[in-house]
Amino acid sequence: MKLWSGMLDENLDKKAEEFNSSIKIDKRLVYKDIEGSISHVKMLEKCEILETEEASKIIDGLKEIEKNLREGNLEVDLNSEDIHTFIEASLIDLIGDVAKKMHTARSRNDQVTTDLKLYIRDEVENIIDFLKNYIKVILELAEKNLETIMPGYTHLQAAQPVTFAHHMMAYVMMALRDIDRLKDYKKRLNSSPLGACALAGTTYKIDREFTANELLFNEIMQNSIDAVSDRDYILELESILSIIGIHLSRLSEELIIWSSQPFSFIRIDDKYSTGSSIMPQKKNPDMAELIRSKSASLIGNMNQSYIMLKGLPLAYSKDMQEDKESIFDSIDTIKISLEIMAGMLETLTINKQKMLKACKEGFINATDVADYLVNKGVPFRDAHHISAGLVLYATEKDLTLDEIDLKTYKSKSEKFEEDIYDVIDLETIVYNRKSLGGPSPNEVKRQIKWAREEIGL
Ligand code: ARG
Repeated sequence: MKLWSGMLDENLDKKAEEFNSSIKIDKRLVYKDIEGSISHVKMLEKCEILETEEASKIIDGLKEIEKNLREGNLEVDLNSEDIHTFIEASLIDLIGDVAKKMHTARSRNDQVTTDLKLYIRDEVENIIDFLKNYIKVILELAEKNLETIMPGYTHLQAAQPVTFAHHMMAYVMMALRDIDRLKDYKKRLNSSPLGACALAGTTYKIDREFTANELLFNEIMQNSIDAVSDRDYILELESILSIIGIHLSRLSEELIIWSSQPFSFIRIDDKYSTGSSIMPQKKNPDMAELIRSKSASLIGNMNQSYIMLKGLPLAYSKDMQEDKESIFDSIDTIKISLEIMAGMLETLTINKQKMLKACKEGFINATDVADYLVNKGVPFRDAHHISAGLVLYATEKDLTLDEIDLKTYKSKSEKFEEDIYDVIDLETIVYNRKSLGGPSPNEVKRQIKWAREEIGL
């Protein structure tokens, strides 16, 4: 700012200037901005809009700026308005007036959305890698717990026996869908807006195919107004990341419940737990709680973008500058959440005895008592009633179903024989649930194999 200038009315108010600036947020687009500009200038040369010598000077200058930034000999100036003006000003400093030709047949409107798409494209690959690692950790945990019997729940009431492997594989399936969503998203993301200019294209004979190929886009946005106005790719990615966040949040909630004293199914490693400053006995699952709450930020970011865009007329409005803060935050949040969750799962201790005990205390073989009678010709409704009576009896006497003697069983129904004890054995129950998708160890092994093949792990 030329503070000494007498023409104060031509300068922005100091606060307004700060308010207008996006450099603190968009500085992370710096290398993508340089990449986009190099392709643009190559295209200007090819189309004979710039002389070869001019283009070479600009491209060499841009490469030097990149090198200086990477080596720490140049820093992004946080007093600039945005990353695009910073790069242009740095180039003018470095090579002089010829730098001013770089922005021919371009606007910051097509430039910013090009940069952002290039940045997001890389990050989507990174997020897929984080998801794959998270899946890998769960698959290993499942492989070790194929026979770890635990209660499966509905309404958070012990329902039927499953295995820990079976339960955890449900989260693998969610993550596989997440990867699928991201891959599908990439197809729509990877369309080039560059060359749309401010909104109405240009009179220069530019070659949009050329820049799209250079930047590895797989197609070109077909309408210049749409190209600069479209932020669907922000909404869509934030929606996908919100879904991933919800999956992680549900798992966090389970880890929190399972590690609480009444359950004690698992122990979260000290590396991922904190203590209390006042209660010496406390070990808190803070990481899981934070991941649970991060899903709220993801949904918040998504909402912000939807609401920001809702009433915007075409084409660019400055409101759209605010798209970056939320998408960057969502990208950072999902990566760290996936990383911490994977670490927590990798170091988890499983208490098999506690899980088994909870199965017995929860009468989760009551359905199998009823099924036993059904197999002997008793109508299901009556069988259900008889089984409920046995559960009541056991509760009163503080027994589990396998501790009730045969005489009592027979007093409820003559159909009961000695083999009832085999049928309600928890292991037998789990092993017999061989239907596709079910908990029997061999079936879960198949699920694991299927998941591995899906993502080539
Ligand atoms: N910093 C701006 C943004 O992020 C760049 C585009 C500015 N375009 C404009 N017409 N003022 O949206």
